[in-house]
Amino acid sequence: MKFDIKRWVVLGASLLLGGCAPYPTFLDPASPIAGHEASLYRIILIMALVVFVLVEGALILILIRDRGRKGDNTPPKQVYGNTRLEVTWTAIPILLVIALFVMTVQTMHAVAAPAPQKSDLNVQVTGHQWWWEFSYPALGITTANELHIPVGGTVQITLASVDVIHSFWVPQLSGKTDVIPGQTNHMWLKGEKIGVYHGQCAEFCGTNHANMRFKVIVESQADFNAWAASQQKDAPQPQTDAEKQGYKMITTGICSNCHTLNGTDAKGTIGPNLTHLFSRTSFAGSTFDLNQSNLRSWLQDTQAMKPGNDMVVKLKPDEIDALIAYLTQLK
Ligand code: CUA
Repeated sequence: MKFDIKRWVVLGASLLLGGCAPYPTFLDPASPIAGHEASLYRIILIMALVVFVLVEGALILILIRDRGRKGDNTPPKQVYGNTRLEVTWTAIPILLVIALFVMTVQTMHAVAAPAPQKSDLNVQVTGHQWWWEFSYPALGITTANELHIPVGGTVQITLASVDVIHSFWVPQLSGKTDVIPGQTNHMWLKGEKIGVYHGQCAEFCGTNHANMRFKVIVESQADFNAWAASQQKDAPQPQTDAEKQGYKMITTGICSNCHTLNGTDAKGTIGPNLTHLFSRTSFAGSTFDLNQSNLRSWLQDTQAMKPGNDMVVKLKPDEIDALIAYLTQLK
């Protein structure tokens, strides 16, 4: 087979870049903290590239210059004990390591510093296997997997876990902070650009660790206020017969053991609050897009979609229809 350089370049590039898009990267920061991390990474990358090119370049040059030649058996010039060279190649790495150390400590300092402004908003983040609960105590809102924050505002975050150790990470907005059972950790967030930022649990927490994702929706203050006002409303009353059946299952049936529906007797806290389920775009730890067809598959067999999750139920087809009829009203 002919060696085709173009094919290898394409293969190499797709291997290197394929993992990136469309997933978030801290190299595209939208907050001061992610900005510090990105600049440190770039400086280290450039330093490492310069060292790599110089060292490998010198190696290749010497290999070519001193290669064996036909009919010439004289060895290349031997060099012993060159003090100047030895001092140089010891001093340069030491200086580089000192520079890296100083820059790293500066960045750690900047990242760990308290929020520059007074916080406008407090959010309690609770890690569950495998989804995220977000509550806004001052606003009386509890939601799941999608955190809304106003653009430019400083948000104080309190982190706790109900089961194992998780880690809260929004690459474009924050560093990682562990979410530890029996301990309360604190961090702050600030989104400087309107947009949706993907977050990911960054501490192995069981079989579905990789499917413990979330979104941070950074929106204008007006959009945030509108969202908050609608989240504060209680669940709507059911209208059709199917909706009534679904409502009954959620408020007094099996669903109420684990889920909350604001304004009703359903006050379970094991699973996500359902009151405004369809105001969200994803579910099950932001693993699936929230639409009727995914919700139906979920209710038919939650364990097939996300093995090991806490929702173990056997529902009849008419119960699934009833639940979907009511749940889709929860905007
Ligand atoms: Cu939660 Cu990994």
